[in-house]
Amino acid sequence: MTDVYSGHSQFVLLGNNRRRWFDGRTLFIITVITVPVIIFCGIYTVILKTNETLLYPQSHIEVPVQAPHRAKIYSTRLRNLDKGLLSIEDDVPKITDFKLVCYYNFPGGSGSLQPEKIDPFLCTHINVGFARVGPNGVELTQDQLRALQTVVGLKQVNGNLKVLVSVGGAGNDGGFNVMVLSHASRKVFIRSVAELVRNHSIDGVDLDWEFPNETPGRDKKQKVHFVQLLEEFRMTINKYKEKFLVTVAVAAPIVLVDNCYDVPYLNEFVDFVNVMAYDYHFYTKLTPFTGLNSPLYPSIEDKGYLSTLNINFTAFYWVSKGMAREKLVIGLPTYGHTFRLTNIHNSGLYAPARGYGKLGSGGFVDYSQVCSFLNMNQISPIFDMDAKSPYATKGTEWVAFDNEQSLSFKAEFVRDNQFGGVMVYSLNADDYLGVCKVDSNVQSRQFPLINKVKEILDRNYSIF
Ligand SMILES: *[C@@H]1O[C@H](CO)[C@@H](O)[C@H](O)[C@H]1NC(C)=O
Ligand SMILES: *[C@@H]1O[C@H](CO)[C@@H](O)[C@H](O)[C@H]1NC(C)=O
Repeated sequence: MTDVYSGHSQFVLLGNNRRRWFDGRTLFIITVITVPVIIFCGIYTVILKTNETLLYPQSHIEVPVQAPHRAKIYSTRLRNLDKGLLSIEDDVPKITDFKLVCYYNFPGGSGSLQPEKIDPFLCTHINVGFARVGPNGVELTQDQLRALQTVVGLKQVNGNLKVLVSVGGAGNDGGFNVMVLSHASRKVFIRSVAELVRNHSIDGVDLDWEFPNETPGRDKKQKVHFVQLLEEFRMTINKYKEKFLVTVAVAAPIVLVDNCYDVPYLNEFVDFVNVMAYDYHFYTKLTPFTGLNSPLYPSIEDKGYLSTLNINFTAFYWVSKGMAREKLVIGLPTYGHTFRLTNIHNSGLYAPARGYGKLGSGGFVDYSQVCSFLNMNQISPIFDMDAKSPYATKGTEWVAFDNEQSLSFKAEFVRDNQFGGVMVYSLNADDYLGVCKVDSNVQSRQFPLINKVKEILDRNYSIF
């Protein structure tokens, strides 16, 4: 007999044995036991799954927060209109509590925006910056303190205005890295902020450390230390009778969000964050090509990593990391970035560039300068309908910027997605004198860009 046959015969044997097991009685007992178990497990799974989805929504993004809300408003309105009970005015919810946080840079020369020239009703919050962190806490020069006090003076005109002192800023770490190291030095800093706030009727502090743990040096625990600073701020505030706001200016690119912040803790300890949703593209030797400063959505050319460099992606990324929508204030620029084209015949997005443009300085340009560039050369900007952002080019000059049209789209995005509001960088870079004439039929006005954002945020829902 071959092995195959022995195998076969064993199988037959087994079959015979098994057959003996399955007589009528055994089959009956097995059926009686297993069928209820299967039914029970089925019902249990269904119940459990339902509970799970109730308790743990798949992700923040998938939960349509406003859709049911709007649907409800809509259906209530229809019902009430049928009964003739409600006027249209009453029924549209007026959302007036979006934040409009405006950064104000300490004035340079006499030609720059002076603090008393700021419209007290334009913004809900003004962040005045930038102070430094020193060994004894917040450091301000005499001139800076005077400017800060003048901005605080605007509160006498608009009692609802909040003024914060912004500490840190771009280009350096502002003294944060030493201060966060120990409980003792953090305490000195927090106490100095509390004193400054109390002494000068300031409403809070905005921490603009760019960025904790960006390039980990000696302090491997910067991320943790930053959270400790925020927690200690919160504990101190809870002890004080007079409360003050603690906000943080935070980064947009995924790499920085992942490396620099423990988002759930930020969410817990800060009043809100200002997401710097700009500088997605600017000229550097490593990125020698044109690009938009603050695209709302990806443009056609954006694939892979490039498709993460836009406001929409950043905003929802922060939400997915654990930041509450209402604490996310989306930062929009009033300034633009300039480029010098390598080839004037290749002048679209991602065209080769070999330096900053001539406009403005160091690759940055204020809106009023862009405006006169357009008018002098009689050129119209090209509006990227995907990214909702304009750029303009003439000769080798190439500039990405924002205008009333692009900022309208972006402010609507913030409003319709129910984020906390808009941050604007900055008051200084808007056309604060109101010299820009985009359209000869329309009267120019001061702070046209920020005013446009304000109009959108203040506007009632008009989707019905
Ligand atoms: C606040 O005022 C007190 C009392 O006038 C003063 O001693 C202190 O130095 C002030 N602190 C700050 C940060 O302005
Ligand atoms: C906006 O972001 C969300 C979440 O990442 C994404 O699902 C959606 O497709 C994006 N919208 C556009 C137009 O890119």
